[in-house]
Amino acid sequence: MTDTSTPHHVAIVMDGNGRWASKRFLPRIAGHKQGVDSLKRCARACEARGIKVLTVFAFSSENWQRPQEEVSGLMDLFALALGREVPQLKADGVQLRFIGERQRLSNRVLRGIAQAEAATAANQQLVLNVCFNYGGRWDIVQAAARVAAQGLAMTEQHLNQRMALAHVPDPDLVIRTGGEQRISNFLLWQSAYSEFFFSDKLWPDFDETELDLAIQTYALRDRRFGRVSDLVDGASTPDESN
Ligand code: FPP
Repeated sequence: MTDTSTPHHVAIVMDGNGRWASKRFLPRIAGHKQGVDSLKRCARACEARGIKVLTVFAFSSENWQRPQEEVSGLMDLFALALGREVPQLKADGVQLRFIGERQRLSNRVLRGIAQAEAATAANQQLVLNVCFNYGGRWDIVQAAARVAAQGLAMTEQHLNQRMALAHVPDPDLVIRTGGEQRISNFLLWQSAYSEFFFSDKLWPDFDETELDLAIQTYALRDRRFGRVSDLVDGASTPDESN
């Protein structure tokens, strides 16, 4: 039987920062700042629960369409947070990876990303994938372009090996906070057989209790990967190596 008690890989759409701030008559960026704190807490809580991979959606390919003030505020926050948080993340055994298109990012952000990845590369405790200037469609297209450029057949395996998250197994559990129930161009390829948990909590309010609820809900799911239940036929686990 497939063990689903603790997810190996949790992915999160951290939604609701703007509403958290608006409810307090604060600028939206104040919500994003709280969002960074919430992410730090969440990473620590995941590590404590034996989760090995955490992937978060920090800035989507579509987020450039937000007001200029919010976009530049998010870029500043991102660069600042990288400088400030990396030493502690390094000490906590977190390996940081940044997933997404690098093209539109400023030199300051690119430098921060390179330094954070280099400083934490040897860590094994938790892989934290930060999707930044990321979109699931972009990921599929970039992988397909690389397969084509190499003159290979367009197979699932060749694509899989070139997707931006090829270094980790697919997410077991995808959480979205903020009350909306949609995927918003996040991990389109990789979430084919993920379990979903939608939380009404705004991301800055997402805490250990809500994480535990998500994990408990996940543990009750019967993951079939397109087959009949293990309880029915005792079927073997599918190849999850990708
Ligand atoms: C969605 O909330 C959140 C974002 C677009 C940004 C998430 C970013 C962070 C939590 C900061 C991450 C920083 C680092 C360093 C990784 P929203 O603005 O769409 O909220 P709303 O739906 O209430 O408007």
